[in-house]
Amino acid sequence: MERDIDHILLHHDQISERVRELAAEISAVYDAQEPALTLVPILSGSIIFLADLIRELPLKMKIALVQVSAYPGRTVEATEPQTVIQLTGDVRGRDVLIVDDILDSGRTLQRVREMIAEHQPATVRAAVLLHKTNKAPAHVQADFVGFEIDDLFVVGYGLDFDDHYRNYPHIGVLRSELMP
Ligand code: IMP
Ligand code: MG
Repeated sequence: MERDIDHILLHHDQISERVRELAAEISAVYDAQEPALTLVPILSGSIIFLADLIRELPLKMKIALVQVSAYPGRTVEATEPQTVIQLTGDVRGRDVLIVDDILDSGRTLQRVREMIAEHQPATVRAAVLLHKTNKAPAHVQADFVGFEIDDLFVVGYGLDFDDHYRNYPHIGVLRSELMP
């Protein structure tokens, strides 16, 4: 696995520190509201980020999963995301925080926001670990962003290429010869 990575963009220690800061930013917003909080992680990319983030959040919460496939198979081009699995929990009247690994074109977040809006939540916000700067349109920005990155294809810490590398502990740039 290691040999497929061109270079490390974000080291695990750097990610951990930023996740703690993000958790503090998120807590500051929701604490004041006495929220009925439901986190909605987008599978599968958000799983590692989610696991680390929620253990830094001292808030009572539920979790409802949603699966959206934005990059089916071995492609790196954003295609129309397909909602593969519906939401696993009820978000009606609840304060929803969508959690995703990366905000790229914004189509995935937009699609999930629309789907959640149909269930009449109280509030909807989004937290993403990575944001590819300037790619998503203004109306689909996230409320909480871990890192702004350049438009490079990255893997690790939950992010995949062809469903591989999610367990790589750092966030790294894949060697270009491995990409289509
Ligand atoms: P969007 O719909 O274009 O914003 O893409 C968001 C989704 O695409 C993310 O949840 C990821 O699963 C995937 N994605 C976008 N960029 C990358 C990347 O650099 N590496 C791995 N997955 C990515
Ligand atoms: Mg993915």
